[in-house]
Amino acid sequence: MEHDGRKTCMLKASMLLLLLSLSTKPVKATVSNNNPCHFPAVFNFGDSNSDTGGLAAAFGQAPPPNGETFFHRPAGRYSDGRLVIDFMVQSLGLPYLSAYLDALGSNFTHGANFATGGSTIRPQNTTRHQSGLSPISLNVQSYQFNDFYVRTQIIRKDEVFFKELVPDPEAFSRGLYAFDIGQNDLTGGLFLNLTVDQVKASIPDILGQFQAVVKDVHDKGGRFFWIHNTGPIGCLPYVLEHLPINEGQMDKNGCAKPFNELAQFFNQKLKDLVNQLLEELPEAMITYVDIYKARYALISQAHAHGFEHPLRVCCGYGQKYNYNIHVGCGGRVSDNGMEIFVGSCKDPSVMIMWDGIHYTEAANKWVFDQIVNGSYSDSLVSLLMACHRK
Ligand SMILES: *[C@@H]1O[C@H](CO)[C@@H](O)[C@H](O)[C@H]1NC(C)=O
Ligand SMILES: *[C@@H]1O[C@H](CO)[C@@H](O)[C@H](O)[C@H]1NC(C)=O
Ligand SMILES: *[C@@H]1O[C@H](CO)[C@@H](O)[C@H](O)[C@H]1NC(C)=O
Ligand SMILES: *[C@@H]1O[C@H](CO)[C@@H](O)[C@H](O)[C@H]1NC(C)=O
Repeated sequence: MEHDGRKTCMLKASMLLLLLSLSTKPVKATVSNNNPCHFPAVFNFGDSNSDTGGLAAAFGQAPPPNGETFFHRPAGRYSDGRLVIDFMVQSLGLPYLSAYLDALGSNFTHGANFATGGSTIRPQNTTRHQSGLSPISLNVQSYQFNDFYVRTQIIRKDEVFFKELVPDPEAFSRGLYAFDIGQNDLTGGLFLNLTVDQVKASIPDILGQFQAVVKDVHDKGGRFFWIHNTGPIGCLPYVLEHLPINEGQMDKNGCAKPFNELAQFFNQKLKDLVNQLLEELPEAMITYVDIYKARYALISQAHAHGFEHPLRVCCGYGQKYNYNIHVGCGGRVSDNGMEIFVGSCKDPSVMIMWDGIHYTEAANKWVFDQIVNGSYSDSLVSLLMACHRK
């Protein structure tokens, strides 16, 4: 038995080597030219900001009215419609990403999404029940990606039916690797009552784990990276409502300065890491995208951009921001003996905050429109050109 096992194992290993050697055609970031990149696939890692069905597949669907504006039903997204990642793949001419965990109707020909709502970079020491954070932290997403990488290539070679559902091996070297994760590492620490300084002290460890995953993807032949920094967490109603903050710590837009400064501190360190990786990985192109700046621009100039009540939640109930941690979007609340469904506001297209944690489709579209042409990227390289190094 053991002997046979070892033989099979060796056979598998040599098959794998063969596959890997077939698939690692050298692909490099080229010095800036005018040819669009034609990414054949997008592989995404992240949290609810880019989850297209991962958490829903594992822990139950996001309830209605999530999805109402665009999909007209719940679609595994925490929003009334599409997320920034949806607009990204759409603009690249690719279909919306299937969640890796989604067993139903998935088609991974043009990529896969490993993100789940509540994901952190570092594995947490709390359960999802205790903290709301997902057990599918970035290291788990990386295990899943590695399994996906190996098994899709075996399927591509040996299977008939499933072949039509997985990427071409070349897609791994020519595809775009997108990351939008880290926000929950910061808020997760704050909700455990760590001080801002204590959370800051954990950032080197957090980014060390992030770096390991980027390098692992690079080792597998990934060359093109698109990395979102983290948004203004101090403007999110669930943070404003539940973390201790005094009047003197609010900025003129009603956001909590210490928490936004924490996000900016994290972002500076993330940007330093990206610059370090650009030096260490000369064949890679890594685009650092300032999502913080785009989202904050929207919140601070909401009216100029056609939005109303920047911090008011569209799908929520009660209190200062129309948000109550005990009664989420799609839930039910009893008010004077009457049961009320916590539904959507009249016009989500003029609102920024969807449910207190996430953004509306309109806000996501606005942010996407800002970042797609590269004006919020360090390199000033647009999404379509994100395979070229400046
Ligand atoms: C979880 O606990 C381990 C062991 O004490 C520690 O090293 C790690 O940093 C903790 N993780 C988080 C996210 O706090
Ligand atoms: C999966 O998507 C690809 C590309 O859009 C398409 O060619 C293929 O037929 C799809 N597979 C199935 C089984 O629908
Ligand atoms: C954090 O502090 C609040 C207020 O003192 C308390 O209610 C809560 O239980 C604490 N949370 C944790 C995880 O210790
Ligand atoms: C990028 O797009 C935004 C939104 O459409 C626009 O305001 C900005 O001027 C553009 N920047 C460049 C460099 O094209």
